[in-house]
Amino acid sequence: MAQPASTIESSSKEQWTAVDEYVNDLLIGSDPALEAALETSSAAGLPPIAVSPPQGKLLHLLARSVGARKILELGTLGAYSTIWMGRALPSDGKLITLEYDPKHAEVARGNIARAGLAQKVEIRLGRAIDTLPQLTGEAPFDLIFIDADKVSYPDYFPWALKLSRPGSLIIADNIVRKGAVADPSSDDENVQAVRRYNELLAAEPRVSATVIQTVGSKGYDGFAMALVVK
Ligand code: SAH
Ligand code: DHB
Ligand code: MG
Repeated sequence: MAQPASTIESSSKEQWTAVDEYVNDLLIGSDPALEAALETSSAAGLPPIAVSPPQGKLLHLLARSVGARKILELGTLGAYSTIWMGRALPSDGKLITLEYDPKHAEVARGNIARAGLAQKVEIRLGRAIDTLPQLTGEAPFDLIFIDADKVSYPDYFPWALKLSRPGSLIIADNIVRKGAVADPSSDDENVQAVRRYNELLAAEPRVSATVIQTVGSKGYDGFAMALVVK
């Protein structure tokens, strides 16, 4: 049913969070390992910037949709998104996740083990721009999730493309930035970087791409999704 205009106009993070909770209760349910990943991350002082549960499930469903057997993630944090995507892998599947903060990697390692994914998930410690060139032997990846430092997204895209194959999905988080992505004169370097990233998508004939805005418990942001077509 359509929402009354007043409800839409009063939309706020509380309302978006209420809808995320509704979706969570109805369609997502509980996974002790995912919940523990958030709890241990918070207890260890990691920032609360993992994808939301509905977004995590979206990544999971996308991985299953493309039949992903090899997944690459840039930016592990406490492995919340890692576990969502790792849960989509077949028994011989593999996920490599890149993280430069040893403390984040340590928390992530415990969470990955608790989720029963230690055999499938490997954390590569270091700056992604330094570890990406070491992955050519593991390529192609069927799904690549870019979620590390935003200023480097334009540098990560050529690597994502190089490490993919036709049919791979390249998904980037935090692209909309409360709408600032549409402001060409923004003086925020993160905004300029995601704009540059989108321009690289637009100029690259080997991908077909879109950006989807999202609201929810993590606020107003969005994903860029690119399908490698040739
Ligand atoms: N994908 C996670 C959230 C990642 S937050 C989730 O949704 O659950 C971004 C992570 O990227 C942080 O852990 C940060 O330490 C890491 N990071 C930042 N710069 C990086 C770099 N240059 N190389 C690798 N990791 C980086
Ligand atoms: C923030 C959110 C993210 O999803 C991320 O990957 C990095 C930072 C943030 O809200 O600051
Ligand atoms: Mg993110």
